[in-house]
Amino acid sequence: MTDAALKDESQRPAEPAVLEDVPGWFWDHDRHSFDWFMGRQEKTGVTGDLLEMGAYLGRSAIVIGEHLQPGESFTVCDLFDSDAPDDENAAEMDTSYRKSLTRSAFEVNYLAFHEELPEIIQAPTSALAGGRIAAGTFRFIHIDASHLYEHVVGDLQVARVALQDQGVVVLDDYRSQHTPGVAAATWGAVFNHGLKPIMLTECKFYGTWGDPEPFQRDLLDRVDLAAGCYLSSETLNGQQVLRMTGDSDGIGAFRPSRHHRRLAAEAARDEASQSRRAVQEEAARDLAARRARAAELRRPANVAKRAARDLLPPVVTSVIRRARRG
Ligand SMILES: C[S@@+](CC[C@H](N)C(=O)[O-])C[C@H]1O[C@@H](n2cnc3c(N)ncnc32)[C@H](O)[C@@H]1O
Repeated sequence: MTDAALKDESQRPAEPAVLEDVPGWFWDHDRHSFDWFMGRQEKTGVTGDLLEMGAYLGRSAIVIGEHLQPGESFTVCDLFDSDAPDDENAAEMDTSYRKSLTRSAFEVNYLAFHEELPEIIQAPTSALAGGRIAAGTFRFIHIDASHLYEHVVGDLQVARVALQDQGVVVLDDYRSQHTPGVAAATWGAVFNHGLKPIMLTECKFYGTWGDPEPFQRDLLDRVDLAAGCYLSSETLNGQQVLRMTGDSDGIGAFRPSRHHRRLAAEAARDEASQSRRAVQEEAARDLAARRARAAELRRPANVAKRAARDLLPPVVTSVIRRARRG
């Protein structure tokens, strides 16, 4: 569906009541990790801009937007309804996103949780190169757009220039079978371009071109880390890498959207009217059955039978019954 097709109310994207109503690929360990990294920056007085490349319907952008501080900007770059820059990217878009993705749907979702939209660049992420965004001013960048090797290499180059010294870059799908390009670009940046891993979750790689050690120390000291998240450490070509595993029971829910109460009231009303309808239908069925029974009793043959039963002595009626049975 395109934006132009969203003509009337019935076609407007549904408003989410909670973050989980926003479709996407963003799970609890990463939501907690995003909060952890940006929260740590806020606690230690680090300021800077925020960037997401690849937002889809806004599930991760909504969480990043929660950390926007006065004086900072949040930029989201996505193709949304626009054409992809090449055939391979177009095939990726057709397979995974085209059916459900519109810029309006992203905006409805985002505005359910925030007062203002981020700055939106509706274009291929390659549009961010060459000075479109300011160098050295970003503190947090999430790369989750095209999965093609050349594109992710480009996204990493943009991130490297845009990030400030202790800025954090996060790459999605750095290890999935269907995204070898992201894996190759990520580890290529580690081995050839000075990117230092901080931590890995099941889906995302967290790294910096600065010093990973202060982040890793706080993580290992479990500073602000949710119960149930476990960290293990290993050394990769002389560099420490942490791995987060465990469950997400200790991770609190994201706050509900501004529509939560209204949607909950509407759902309660719907449920009440459904159960009213069910009671009415049951009563109508009962009435129809009683009417059918009454009509049956009014049939002449049954009236005669009842009269015989009421008027003749029992011995006579049982003789008649036996005689009928024959
Ligand atoms: C995996 S989804 C993003 C998921 C989102 N971050 C979340 O957590 O729900 C990838 C997004 O990247 C966008 N995309 C794909 N190729 C792109 C490109 N070359 N430039 C910009 N965006 C692109 C798609 O439109 C899609 O919205």
